[in-house]
Amino acid sequence: MNDNLHQLRCFGCGTRVPGTEARPDFRCSACGDLFEVEYPGWNQRKGPDRPNAGALKWLWRERRCSTEALDHSGVWRFRELLPILESFGNAVTLREGNTPLYHLPRASKALGIDQLFAKHQGMNPTGSFKDTGMTTALSVARERGFEWVACASTGNTSAAMAAYAARAGLRSLVVIPEGKIAWGKLAQAMDYGAVTCQLNTDFDGCVRVLTKVVKEAHIYLLNSVNPYRLEGQKTPAFEIAEAFDWNVPDHVIVPGGNLANSSALGKGFREMVELGLVARMPRISVIQAAGANPLVRSMAENGGTALEPVVADTRATAIRIGNPASWRKAARVIQETGGWSLDVSEAEIAIAKAEIGAEGLGCEPASAVTLAGLKKLRAQGAVSPGETVVLLLTGHTLKDADYTIDFHRGTLLRDDEKVGLEDKIEALRRNAQVVDATPEAVLAAVKASVTGSAPGGGEG
Ligand code: F0G
Repeated sequence: MNDNLHQLRCFGCGTRVPGTEARPDFRCSACGDLFEVEYPGWNQRKGPDRPNAGALKWLWRERRCSTEALDHSGVWRFRELLPILESFGNAVTLREGNTPLYHLPRASKALGIDQLFAKHQGMNPTGSFKDTGMTTALSVARERGFEWVACASTGNTSAAMAAYAARAGLRSLVVIPEGKIAWGKLAQAMDYGAVTCQLNTDFDGCVRVLTKVVKEAHIYLLNSVNPYRLEGQKTPAFEIAEAFDWNVPDHVIVPGGNLANSSALGKGFREMVELGLVARMPRISVIQAAGANPLVRSMAENGGTALEPVVADTRATAIRIGNPASWRKAARVIQETGGWSLDVSEAEIAIAKAEIGAEGLGCEPASAVTLAGLKKLRAQGAVSPGETVVLLLTGHTLKDADYTIDFHRGTLLRDDEKVGLEDKIEALRRNAQVVDATPEAVLAAVKASVTGSAPGGGEG
């Protein structure tokens, strides 16, 4: 079976190459920009390759009841829009995707936006949205006969890659910044059997080193410069549209790091419009940490036409990135959808994360920038009460338990970072308490929590 209908198109100069002819670093040899996967058959309006919107909607829903592994994947059940393999039999899946869309009742009430939802991509097999892109790109690696795959990562990509490589029987190389990734993610890479190299540099330095490595050795690069990653990462857009019965929400808000995710979601919504699956694209906004905000600066200073790398610093280590690869693609998505890019402080991230935790969902710090950003947009009047808003929660709360514990113990933020927000932070803290091993002591702790006599919890 030959399911393959794609080619690669350079985002910068438009040069087209067959998928098998991309350079190992996935940069265009004419201009150095990144590629996007393109499906020429879809342009032949009446051509046999052009998918039929109504039939697809029906088929994708039906597949959820199928017993086939590929149909259980929330990525591959949309495989008509992913014709990137010679055979779908080569797909490597951990049953990723099909993640829940939760209403956020408390945040809805606080912000006066009734239709506020979280698409929780942390509910993927390795606990982050990276699984959706890894299943597609790693399947391509396997189909093309690679024995080794590699990525530089702030943690989640490496966890996902190591897991999918292990499932496929491939070897994996992880290059991470020493001391700058959350333990949960490092533990995953080790457990899934990756060769894990901690480099004495930051994420951007890791990317530089790995780019040279893949030019010298026959190793398949699985960073998000690999355009097949974005193909998988576009599928949450399909799931969101499907969840709203193919009426897209008004606004989707995503965190920004290397900026592939925003680009991929934009591509997903754009393709749905082109194929007549939905009528329009939602506004897509990208939120960065104030200490790692090169896109926000670029948009403000020159309308996203040039990007000056920054030295990144944030406790949201997943998005501690100063020189994002996909910034041009992300800038286009923001501009074409009328979205915004803005940044949020360390205290705003910590508060938003605790608020998402209090909804019974939880997420990792990088994901919480979405709620922090929405609060700012709402305060600026950029989002109105009648809008339907979806926050993309990208990672599971257990990825970075240290951050959460430090917050609740009151040791996360410096005093200067908390100025003006002290009361809010105290009200959200729920520290564990050390109490005597007696029923009386435990009941006293319950009572104190009801009367409010132990704000933020005691010592523990
Ligand atoms: N949220 C989480 C939890 C992430 O791990 C990342 C990126 C992002 C948001 C940002 O997504 O890079 O597509 O803009 N993590 C990468 C990694 C860089 O190596 O795991 P982006």
